[in-house]
Amino acid sequence: MKIAPSILAADLADLASAVKLCEDGGAQLIHVDVMDGHFVPNLTFGPPVIADLARRTRVGFDIHLMVSNPEALLDRYLDSGPAWLSIHHEVTEEPGRLAARIRERGAGAGVAINPATPLDELLPYLEHLDFVVLMSVVPGFAGQAFHPEVLEKARRLRALVDERELPVSIEMDGGIKPGNLNEVAAAGVDVAVVGSGVFAADRPVETLVALRRQAGE
Ligand code: DX5
Ligand code: ZN
Repeated sequence: MKIAPSILAADLADLASAVKLCEDGGAQLIHVDVMDGHFVPNLTFGPPVIADLARRTRVGFDIHLMVSNPEALLDRYLDSGPAWLSIHHEVTEEPGRLAARIRERGAGAGVAINPATPLDELLPYLEHLDFVVLMSVVPGFAGQAFHPEVLEKARRLRALVDERELPVSIEMDGGIKPGNLNEVAAAGVDVAVVGSGVFAADRPVETLVALRRQAGE
């Protein structure tokens, strides 16, 4: 399993250092939380901020769009050339078309679901995705407590993906710490997003290295 550090939990006045820290800790993917103050109560990074940050590193970005209108914003976030980009199932009528657009622009296409959203809702279009994000907190803020019931969703999705031999990765996002990392990996998750577990630690680079080792990355 890979660890994708989430820069939402970093010192937001020093994002360039946050990206450098991810790189120094060997991250293969950097998770970037985009919040619009509407789909979620918090408000974060616009496309120009992400584009400037992306120029500071060769590590791929995993942009997580927590916005009500992904149709309107998608292309501007794709301009920064992310490795992966996810939109939320809860706010789109046409996930298949948006996923196709993401892929057309050269990124891996993902759909995220909130803890309360049933997995069954995305199964009809699963084969059009490169990854699924299982939210293990209600999106909006870093530093919230993990919802353990989401592990069952991961186990079910793992079984389905394996059975259908789909090239779909499973990402889990929210509340992941050293104490629950093994359970997350055992549930079949491919990418664990870790925000405060890295950035609130006393020694973030060493912590990221240790988490990656624990995850067998
Ligand atoms: C929550 C975000 C998460 C968050 C993770 O809305 O989508 O990516 O940054 O942070 P922690 O690991 O602190 O829960
Ligand atoms: Zn996220």
